[in-house]
Parts: sequence; structure tokens; C-alpha cells
Amino acid sequence: MGGKSTSGYDLEDVDGIGPKTAQMLQSRGIISARHLALFTPEELVDITDMTPDRAEKILRNARELVFGQKRILKGSELVKTMQDMPRLTTGVKSIDKLLGGGLEPKATYEFAGEFGTGKTQLCHQLAVTVQLPRDKGGVAGACAYIDTEEAFSPSRIEAIAKRFGLDPQQVLDNIYVMKVVNAADLEDRIKFDIVKLVEQCNVKLIIIDSIIALYRAEFKGRERLAERQQRLNYILDWLMRIAKVYNIYIVMTNQVLDVPLGYIEVKRPAGGNVLAHAVTHRLFLKKSRDDVRVMEVLDSPRLPHKATATFRITDKGVEDT
Ligand code: GTP
Ligand code: MG
Repeated sequence: MGGKSTSGYDLEDVDGIGPKTAQMLQSRGIISARHLALFTPEELVDITDMTPDRAEKILRNARELVFGQKRILKGSELVKTMQDMPRLTTGVKSIDKLLGGGLEPKATYEFAGEFGTGKTQLCHQLAVTVQLPRDKGGVAGACAYIDTEEAFSPSRIEAIAKRFGLDPQQVLDNIYVMKVVNAADLEDRIKFDIVKLVEQCNVKLIIIDSIIALYRAEFKGRERLAERQQRLNYILDWLMRIAKVYNIYIVMTNQVLDVPLGYIEVKRPAGGNVLAHAVTHRLFLKKSRDDVRVMEVLDSPRLPHKATATFRITDKGVEDT
């Protein structure tokens, strides 16, 4: 990491920011005008000694500079920009088809499912396919991998890389694995380190495996549920801000809970309404037989409800059946 921001605008390009303020913001971890534009006035006041008025003014100027006049689009222009955004292949034809051609940027994907349903395997595969060139369904980007469950496996990445004809060492070099210890740490990694990787290291895909484990462990019991949900909402909101502003792909995994429904128990993703509302596309993974798994659309604004795809977990990663 390091070097000049490639986001287009330096902090000093923002009206009202001189060398001293730029230096102060940098010392707080804010690296560019685009990065600054992600913050809310309250957040900025929190990490600096700025007055709320000053913070608000500076942020307005930063947004004006970075997003400029492009914020209002005609419907026809919107169609065009959506068509211009490449889909990211999962490396599995049936899943790509289910997702409308692969993952779309500026959106968040949730893979929820019981243990062993392939959530982590899919994350590993995406950390590789994002590095494929455009004509092979990738975006020639790097991956930031937040591993909250100690499940990241370099040897698995190597096997998948070989299958896609990529150099395993190079592929591993393009995956930035981050360990996080608690929710506050996750917030810092996402607000600062991840943005830096996106701006300076060509990161196009952010993976969080899993989003819920930390929160379930840290905020135990009913009395802390409201606090847990608030914190979860906060981090999901930040991920969405990053996805939209940097036009990148975001994938997270989630655990499931047994929820009583009359006389039976059904499996539902953890995280309650907060996660349900904050995630763009919710996919549910289930075991079928042996190594076969089923992915089902649970909730999505654009994908058909309950549509499914089947896939297999093999020595080479995740494949069509
Ligand atoms: P949790 O994190 O425990 O909730 O599960 P998960 O959904 O993340 O499961 P994961 O993606 O780790 O999938 C585990 C499955 O992949 C198991 O059925 C393993 O047998 C299988 N698997 C993992 N590595 C390999 C491998 O190298 N070869 C083969 N054939 N299968 C593998
Ligand atoms: Mg896992």
C-alpha cells in the first residue's frame, strides 16, 4: 500500500481544505477526496476536532467535487451505465445464469447456509475469478478478504487458480487477507484499510466470511440485541457506500438459525431484519446429496424469487454439476 491516490482527487482539491487540514485528515486515515466523501458529518466530527458546521461544509464540497453533476441521470442514461458495468463470473455457469450473468457491482450479495454448504468455497473461487481478464468473465482486479472465521486457505486458492489457468503465486499476491478481532476492528478495517486497498491496490471485490460471527460472539444475549443490530446496520451501510462510490463487488457469508414455524423448525439467515434489508441479493445455500449443493434466491430486487442453481464442491473448487 502507499503512494498517491488514484481516485482522481486529492484532499486539497476540496474547497476549504488547505495543506494543514489535509495533513490532519491524512493522519486520521482519510486518503483522498473520494474517501472523505464517504463520511457523514457526525463521523468526521468524531475523528477530528472539526466543528459540526465545518465538517458539514467540507463534506458538501467534497461530494460536489467527486460526484459533480453526474448525480442526476435520465432513465436512458441509467440503462446505459448499467449495461457498461461488467458482470463478474462465479466460474459456475448455473450460478452465473441464476444471478443474471454473474455478480453485479454496486450491490451486496449474501450467501447464507448451514455449515458445509459451500459458502467459504464460493468466496475462495470469487477471490480467483475476479482476477480473470474481462474476456474470461473477470475484471482483472484484486480481492480484499476479511476472514473472521480463520477459514482462508491458500492451498485451496492455488488449486482454483490452476483450474482457471492463472499463476497461483500471482493470484495469492492479489488477495489481501485481513483478520479482525471484534466489531470495532471490523469497522476500522472497512472504513480505512479497505478503502485504501480499493484506491491504491486495484481491489474490486470485498469478501467478508462471515459477517455475523463477530457480532453473535460479541453482543451476547437479548439485552444487547438492539446494540448488535445497530452496529451491524452501521457496517452494512458502510459497505454499501463503498460499493456504490467505487463501483465494486461485495460478497458476505452468513450463518443460519433454526426458527420455529408452527410444529417444525425452518432455517433462516441470522442477522434479522437489519441484514434482510441491507443486503441487495440474498442467496440461500443447501446441501443436496454428497458434494452437490443448491443455491436458491431468497430475496432480491431483480432475481426471481425461489429460482435455484445446483453446483458441486470438488478438488478444483466450485463447479457445475
Ligand atoms: P461453515 O463456514 O462451516 O458454515 O461452512 P461453509 O458453508 O463455509 O462450508 P465450506 O464452503 O467450507 O464447504 C465445506 C465443504 O467443501 C465440505 O463439504 C468439504 O468437504 C468441501 N471441501 C473443502 N475443501 C475441499 C477440497 O479440497 N476438495 C473437495 N472435494 N471438497 C472440499
Ligand atoms: Mg465457511
